[in-house]
Amino acid sequence: MKDAHGRVIDYLRISLTDRCNFRCIYCMPEDGVCQMDHDEILRIEDIERLVKVAAGIGIKSIRLTGGEPLVRKGVVDLVDSITNIDGIENVSMTTNGVLLPAMAEDLKRAGLSRVNISLDTLDPEQFKYVTRVGKLEDTLAGIDAALECGFDPVKVNAVTVKSLNQDFLAFAKLSIDRPLHVRFIEYMPVGDSSENGTGWGKEDVIPSKELFSIINERAAIEGLLPLESAAADPLGWGPARYFEFPDAKGTVGFISPLSRHFCSACNRLRMTADGKIRPCLFSDTEYDAKQALRNGTDEQVRAVLMEALGAKPDDHHDKVGTERGMSQIGG
Ligand code: GTP
Ligand code: 5AD
Ligand code: SF4
Repeated sequence: MKDAHGRVIDYLRISLTDRCNFRCIYCMPEDGVCQMDHDEILRIEDIERLVKVAAGIGIKSIRLTGGEPLVRKGVVDLVDSITNIDGIENVSMTTNGVLLPAMAEDLKRAGLSRVNISLDTLDPEQFKYVTRVGKLEDTLAGIDAALECGFDPVKVNAVTVKSLNQDFLAFAKLSIDRPLHVRFIEYMPVGDSSENGTGWGKEDVIPSKELFSIINERAAIEGLLPLESAAADPLGWGPARYFEFPDAKGTVGFISPLSRHFCSACNRLRMTADGKIRPCLFSDTEYDAKQALRNGTDEQVRAVLMEALGAKPDDHHDKVGTERGMSQIGG
C-alpha cells in the first residue's frame, strides 16, 4: 500500500488507552485529567477488527502504545489475537516498563515480538521529578524482565532535554554489557510549556549531532562507531540511526525528528484510543474509524483507513505541535 508520495505504508501504531501509571511532565497533566470516557475508547473487539481490515490493505506491523498500553485490560488477549491475523508479521509495544515484571512472560507467550521501554534519566530523584509518581527501580526491573524473558531487541527510549542535564554517557554505556539498544530522542516541544509546567521549549531540543559529539568527547573508551552495515541495525521500522561502542552487546541510536526530518521514509499510520486515524503524528486532522467500527461494514472501515492514507503529508515541515497531548496519540 503506497501513499500519494510513493511511500510504502505497512505499519500502524495503536494507542490502547490515554491512561498511564506515570504522569510524565511532558506528556500529561499532574491529575491525569482530560481522560477519555470509557465508552469513547475502542473496545478490544473493535481494535481486533480494525487490525484485520488494516492487514487487508497491507499493514504488516503493529505497535501498541498508550498512555501506558499495559494498563489496558485485555492487552495480553489482544496481542494473542492480533498476532494470529493473516498478514500481520510483527506486534510490538512501547511501554514505561513498570508492569513488565508481572506481564512480560505472558506477553511473550501471546506472541509479542519486542518492546521499547521509555526511560529518560538514570537519576532516581530526577526520575521522580520527570514521571511525577514513578520509581526508577521499577522501570529498571522492567528492562531486566524484558531481557530475561528473551525479548530481542530490547530498546530504551530516552527523550533528551537540555534543561534536564541528563548523563548521556551513562545512558549510552547501558549498551555495552547487555544487549540493550539505547535511543536518544530529540524532545519534540509539542505541548504548551507554560501550561503543562515543564517550561521546556525549542531551546531544550538537543540536536542529535551535538549529542553524538558530547558522548564521544566524554567517552573514556573508544567512541561510537557506525554499525558495519544497515543489516546490523536492531530490528526496527522506525527512524532511528544506530552506532555502537567497540565490542558492545547493544547499540546507541539517535532519533532526530527536529534536526533531521525522516518524513520521506515514513511508513506509518496512527490510531488514537478513541479510534481516530491520524495520517501524521503532527496532523490534527483525524479520520473517524470508531464510527465505522461501531456502525459500519468492513468496507467502510477500510474507506476510513484509505482516506487517512491519502491525507498523509509529504513532511511535517515546521509544525511540531499537536492539539492532543502525546498520551492520547501514543508518540
Ligand atoms: P522501532 O520500530 O523499534 O524503531 O520503533 P519506533 O522508534 O518507531 O517507535 P517508538 O514508539 O519507540 O518511538 C520512539 C520515538 O520516535 C518516540 O519519541 C516517538 O514519538 C518518535 N516517533 C515515532 N514515530 C514518529 C513519527 O512518525 N514522527 C515523529 N516525528 N516521531 C516519531
Ligand atoms: N518528544 C519526544 N518523545 C516523546 N515521547 C513522549 N513525548 C515526547 C516528546 N514530546 C516518547 C516517550 C515514548 C515514546 C512513545 O514517545 O518517551 O518513549
Ligand atoms: Fe506515561 Fe509514557 Fe506519558 Fe510517561 S510518557 S506519562 S510513561 S504515556
